[in-house]
Amino acid sequence: MTLDYKTFSKGNQPMMRTMIFRFLLYSVSVVFAAEAVVKPGFLVKITPKGLQFLGDQGRSELIKEITKLTIPDQSGSENIHVGHVQYSFTNMHVTEFSFPNATISTKNNVGVTVAGTGLQISIHGGWKYSIHSIVPVKDHGSFEATISSISLSVTIEIGVDKSGRPTVHSSPSDCKFHTGDVKVDLHGGASWLYNLFDHTIEHAIRDSLNDKVCNIVLKEVNTDLAKEVATLKVLAPITANAEIDYSLVSAPEFNQSLTAAMKGEVYEIGNHTEAPYHIPTIPEDVEKSRMVFMWVTDFLANSAGYVLHNTNFFHYNVTQDKIPPGSKFSLNTSDFAVKFLIPELSERYPNMLMQLNLNTTVPPRLIILPEGVTALINGSIAAYVIHPNTTLTYVFTLASDLKLSALFGFSQTNLTWNSTFLSENVTLTSSAIGPFNLDILRMGLQLACKTYLIPMLNEMGADGIPLPTIGSYGFQNPTIIQGKGFLKIGLDLSSKPQAQRPSSNFFRG
Ligand SMILES: *[C@@H]1O[C@H](CO)[C@@H](O)[C@H](O)[C@H]1NC(C)=O
Ligand SMILES: *[C@@H]1O[C@H](CO)[C@@H](O)[C@H](O)[C@H]1NC(C)=O
Ligand SMILES: *[C@@H]1O[C@H](CO)[C@@H](O)[C@H](O)[C@H]1NC(C)=O
Ligand SMILES: *[C@@H]1O[C@H](CO)[C@@H](O)[C@H](O)[C@H]1NC(C)=O
Ligand SMILES: *[C@@H]1O[C@H](CO)[C@@H](O)[C@H](O)[C@H]1NC(C)=O
Ligand SMILES: *[C@@H]1O[C@H](CO)[C@@H](O)[C@H](O)[C@H]1NC(C)=O
Ligand SMILES: *[C@@H]1O[C@H](CO)[C@@H](O)[C@H](O)[C@H]1NC(C)=O
Ligand SMILES: *[C@@H]1O[C@H](CO)[C@@H](O)[C@H](O)[C@H]1NC(C)=O
Ligand SMILES: *[C@@H]1O[C@H](CO)[C@@H](O)[C@H](O)[C@H]1NC(C)=O
Ligand SMILES: *[C@@H]1O[C@H](CO)[C@@H](O)[C@H](O)[C@H]1NC(C)=O
Ligand SMILES: *[C@@H]1O[C@H](CO)[C@@H](O)[C@H](O)[C@H]1NC(C)=O
Repeated sequence: MTLDYKTFSKGNQPMMRTMIFRFLLYSVSVVFAAEAVVKPGFLVKITPKGLQFLGDQGRSELIKEITKLTIPDQSGSENIHVGHVQYSFTNMHVTEFSFPNATISTKNNVGVTVAGTGLQISIHGGWKYSIHSIVPVKDHGSFEATISSISLSVTIEIGVDKSGRPTVHSSPSDCKFHTGDVKVDLHGGASWLYNLFDHTIEHAIRDSLNDKVCNIVLKEVNTDLAKEVATLKVLAPITANAEIDYSLVSAPEFNQSLTAAMKGEVYEIGNHTEAPYHIPTIPEDVEKSRMVFMWVTDFLANSAGYVLHNTNFFHYNVTQDKIPPGSKFSLNTSDFAVKFLIPELSERYPNMLMQLNLNTTVPPRLIILPEGVTALINGSIAAYVIHPNTTLTYVFTLASDLKLSALFGFSQTNLTWNSTFLSENVTLTSSAIGPFNLDILRMGLQLACKTYLIPMLNEMGADGIPLPTIGSYGFQNPTIIQGKGFLKIGLDLSSKPQAQRPSSNFFRG
């Protein structure tokens, strides 16, 4: 009797695959890819506390998987003194699996080691035999087999390929497996069976486990898992025209913690022209108080601003139908406010609706400093009047340089913000109705910023943008610190996902 690879399979889903895959996915799913060694725009570090958490989670998952396992029937034959015995073991299934201690640790400059000691598996099954002799004999009963003191240790070497995706590899010396005692309890049957079956079952289980487990593990890592990580998504769309690149810029580092340095740049889809900005340097940081730390640079935000500006994402035309129905403000040139702000306009074009075409004139910028976060948005506002026949007539263009400050926070797994108006400089760049006094208009625009723009930004900010998730874990105990050019975010993982979210988040394709 041999227990082969299939013995440890559940359909087409080998259990070792599940185990290794889960362990690894937790640690590597946040790891993406790159071409040359460049500075990262985004960095993720999983501290020893985080790796231990992921190891424990992997262990619980594995226990669930293995207790569902059923083992294919086995049969064999042997000649003993009473004749030629044909036997089979049927309905074998795992009744208990204990995995008291799993650790994921890092191996410097190599990868991660997943190790467990003191594992124990109990299997319940049925036996039957028949002896073909002059007087045929057959019988059946059940058995319990317990394999204890199992230890397993697998090192997975993790690197990076040319596309910036992680690579995984394990060589035979990276896998160590050992089974301790196998204890078999037979129920029913004649006493001579005990000697035969005890021995047969014990050896079959022990030998095949010792022979095969590392082969199974190596196959899982080197073919299935390797294929899986080779197709990880390293680009994710953020708008119809823009995508974020989270490929690795270098092989992940393993130094107690796992550190993955990612491109963290937004590009126009299909056009990977580099944004013309400086990438801030993320300083060495040994803090380990949270399971996960992420560094989000202002380069990432500014590359987004650059691409969104270049793809006209910030072009927006305001017409009366876009103004909330309850609003006091109207785009009617005879409206009280318009009469008050630009009397020249009301006189020249009375009783007409207007259209305001907004755009950014340069890419908006975000400046992150330890003292605070500032956003600079330079835009233009072109005003038109709409004739009853829907023809537009140009009236004037204003330039507006807007400065806001922002505070960042969290809501569940989203990064949220709250912005405050700092200043606005409004100038008239051209006019078809001659010059007009901007003083009152400036006050009006400031008021519009404070009453429309900021609340709108903050409404978006209250929802926030999803942070990359790790597996399906929720976040807790968030901390957020501003540095020179980056936000440093610290989080603990919690096993209970806090919200149902679409799976297409930043880091998991
Ligand atoms: C788990 O394993 C680690 C390292 O092998 C060891 O230090 C620790 O004492 C073990 N814990 C338990 C509960 O066995
Ligand atoms: C590993 O981390 C320790 C601090 O945690 C640091 O002192 C050491 O230089 C690091 N080693 C490498 C090779 O990065
Ligand atoms: C690619 O993007 C850059 C920067 O946005 C732009 O200057 C260039 O024209 C674009 N190239 C193409 C082919 O669209
Ligand atoms: C805004 O209106 C102008 C005409 O004034 C038009 O050319 C442009 O396509 C519109 N932009 C958007 C985003 O609707
Ligand atoms: C503009 O407002 C005036 C007075 O409030 C009104 O009589 C006129 O019909 C409005 N014009 C348009 C185009 O809505
Ligand atoms: C923004 O709009 C103004 C006037 O409406 C126009 O002159 C300018 O070219 C536009 N800027 C960009 C970057 O599209
Ligand atoms: C906006 O314009 C001001 C000058 O009016 C300039 O100081 C600032 O750098 C500009 N902002 C951006 C993002 O270019
Ligand atoms: C629409 O009305 C304006 C003002 O009355 C006029 O100048 C323009 O020629 C008209 N356009 C069309 C297409 O009728
Ligand atoms: C946003 O900031 C303003 C000013 O600092 C404060 O008054 C307001 O309560 C904040 N809102 C939220 C939702 O934090
Ligand atoms: C306002 O903008 C104009 C034109 O961009 C510039 O010349 C002026 O210095 C700015 N004023 C302030 C206070 O920033
Ligand atoms: C997180 O952000 C996304 C996108 O803005 C939003 O759809 C979702 O509702 C937010 N989740 C929470 C909990 O605010």
